[in-house]
Amino acid sequence: MADTIKATNITWHHHTISREEREEHNGHQSAVLWFTGLSASGKSSIAQALQAVLFEHGCQSYVLDGDNIRHGLNKDLGFSPEDREENIRRIGEVAALFSDAGFIVSTAFISPYRADRDKVRQLCGEGFIEVYVRCPVDVCADRDPKGLYQKAREGKIPEFTGISAPYEEPQHPELILDTAALSLEDCVRVVVEYLQSRGILTNS
Ligand code: ADX
Repeated sequence: MADTIKATNITWHHHTISREEREEHNGHQSAVLWFTGLSASGKSSIAQALQAVLFEHGCQSYVLDGDNIRHGLNKDLGFSPEDREENIRRIGEVAALFSDAGFIVSTAFISPYRADRDKVRQLCGEGFIEVYVRCPVDVCADRDPKGLYQKAREGKIPEFTGISAPYEEPQHPELILDTAALSLEDCVRVVVEYLQSRGILTNS
């Protein structure tokens, strides 16, 4: 369904300002930092803390966050495999637009299915950076900031990732952040250093 184009008589327009010109203007390259991992693994916290650092450096950056996007753009979607696929497809398209606009965009979605993440990788091209926010489910369940693991274990939330729905670990992520061992600051530092090593950010 999602892969078919319903509209007819549509023409692709080219921008008068290229992505390269935007990057030159911004002083950094654009990228899609795709944070994936269990609920309460730390995706949003890292993405937000990173954004603060990037902002300080004068970078164009933005965070797309699962809980927030599900209040608006994706409020018609639930947590079935089909709905999660559509959730990630739409966010992938939005992330690609942000990237085209010259941003370093961070996305914080569980994105549990490898095939869905790989489609976004194809869409975004070389600026796609998969960041596996790795944390054992028991640690996430101990953190349980929203009380959802407790509810899921009581059977009150169906299809809850890590409890009653699968999470497919990335096989070749660009980065792995072990949040049970690393502090938030360390995680952000690892990402910033990676961006510098790739030349997406300059060292200054
Ligand atoms: S995804 O699987 O489609 O990528 P997404 O990241 O958008 O999920 O949303 C996950 C957030 O929705 C969780 O952090 C949690 O707050 C909430 N949530 C509600 N129900 C579920 C569920 N069944 N499984 C996972 N997360 C859920």
